[in-house]
Amino acid sequence: MAPSPSTAADAPVLEARGLAKSYGQVVALECGDLTVAGGEIHALLGSNGSGKSTLCKILAGAVKADAGELLQRGRRITLQSPSDARDAGIGTVYQETSLIPALTVAQNIQLGIEARSRLRLVDSGRSRREAVRRIEDFGSTLGIRFGPDDIVGDLAIDQQQLVEIIRVVSRRPSLVIFDEATASLDRVQVDGAFALLRRLREEGKSAILVTHRMDEIFSIADRVTVMRNGRSVGTREVRDVDPAALIDLMTGAPADAPPVSRRAQGSEQPILTVRDLSSDAFRDVSFALRRGEVLGLGGLQGQGQSELLRTIFGALKPKSGEIEMAGIPGAPATPAAAVRRGLAFASGDRKRYGTFAIRSIFENLAIARLAQSRSPLVSRARLEPRLMQSISGAKLKFGRLDDSISTLSGGNQQKVVIGRWLDTDPKVLLLDDPTKGIDIRAKRDLYEMFSVLQEKGLAIVIYSSDATELLEIADRILVINGGHVVDELKDDRKTEFELNAAALKGA
Ligand SMILES: Nc1ncnc2c1ncn2[C@@H]1O[C@H](COP(=O)(O)OP(=O)(O)OP(=O)(O)O)[C@@H](O)[C@H]1O
Ligand SMILES: [Mg+2]
Repeated sequence: MAPSPSTAADAPVLEARGLAKSYGQVVALECGDLTVAGGEIHALLGSNGSGKSTLCKILAGAVKADAGELLQRGRRITLQSPSDARDAGIGTVYQETSLIPALTVAQNIQLGIEARSRLRLVDSGRSRREAVRRIEDFGSTLGIRFGPDDIVGDLAIDQQQLVEIIRVVSRRPSLVIFDEATASLDRVQVDGAFALLRRLREEGKSAILVTHRMDEIFSIADRVTVMRNGRSVGTREVRDVDPAALIDLMTGAPADAPPVSRRAQGSEQPILTVRDLSSDAFRDVSFALRRGEVLGLGGLQGQGQSELLRTIFGALKPKSGEIEMAGIPGAPATPAAAVRRGLAFASGDRKRYGTFAIRSIFENLAIARLAQSRSPLVSRARLEPRLMQSISGAKLKFGRLDDSISTLSGGNQQKVVIGRWLDTDPKVLLLDDPTKGIDIRAKRDLYEMFSVLQEKGLAIVIYSSDATELLEIADRILVINGGHVVDELKDDRKTEFELNAAALKGA
């Protein structure tokens, strides 16, 4: 850059100051600060839920901040919409694409910037040629397996992601944001995408790279900003730090005294034994669970934890390996078989796995009991008092039992999803991120419910995307990375530092 008296030329491409965003009671971002210089790749690092995506969405104009300000080259800007951000030269690629499945690759790439005739009509021939040029220019390093006329909805996920990357990058934004944009790509494709970022950097353009992968930060980023609990807690030159220092920043070093394991473990036979269990999503998982024990599954999201839980519950078929429950070998063939053997399952992804949205609260509560019973005839008059009794500890707030479950708040819905099992007297409760997106009061109520169950001897296997929660609830934690158990944390190694280090190890 030529020396110039103009401050605008030296000012950061983009500066975020004190950005904040809440959703109801959930504080997604408390104080987001970020300064991106011209020609730099700036990594954003932080645990799940630390506010990275919320910060990015504000910069992308997709979410409006409650507080804080944005400056572009020293000038204050307001972004009311994604198109405002695009006009300001900010392009964003998320983990989920925003492509239109029914359109072709070329149409998606040109969307919103189609070539037009003098009468403002779309010139589809010229638009397509322009898209072809962009695909050739930017797709060559990416390992693309599509042509301009392929329908996007027919492409595999990784190929769709590459279309999205070409679409955004070929518009040459002055700032491109990759929010875990490479998560669905293989190694070669990721290298290709990074080659594009380097190319933009050589042109003096900037990038924000949200990633959980340390190796990516150290191979491509110039600086890194770390986020913790909704706040930016520090920015470092990458060449001046090492991974351990970054993990310390993520977790708030020095690490607190390790929490003491509160429960003495029974020495009896395991209630659930899993041996060398494998599927497409995980490999060679083994553990033994005792009565009253809480086994945590840690690691970044999407490393196979959810599939492991659903496999144990009989909802997915294992490829190989063994499951033994209370001395009886064999994986349950169906969830109903699992329930009869004393397993229970609840997911925080209520929309997909948990609630039957059009059904009443009563039906949602009764479903577990009905799954357990072999008889189709269960009288409501007999069932209702029992269900009310078993859920009485959960502080469920509702109008009438016949109201639709969708009338309940997220936290109360989750109490139904978990509370429905209490009456089935389960031996093992499988929890898949059970408190995702619910408020702190409802969380406390659920924890109380877990500890009551535990005292009765129930064992729990829990995956949680919230590290604090996992450390608080679990007696020991299997950390899963890429489908493998990479570490087991207990006693004085059961700390947030170790959890992060293991989750990021080899990633
Ligand atoms: N639309 C929303 N409604 C309610 N809560 C939300 C919403 N978006 C985000 N949150 C919550 O805000 C917090 C921060 O979320 P955000 O997506 O910014 O985290 P992140 O750092 O990107 O995490 P990850 O690494 O898992 O992608 C989380 O607790 C999340 O559950
Ligand atoms: Mg995110």
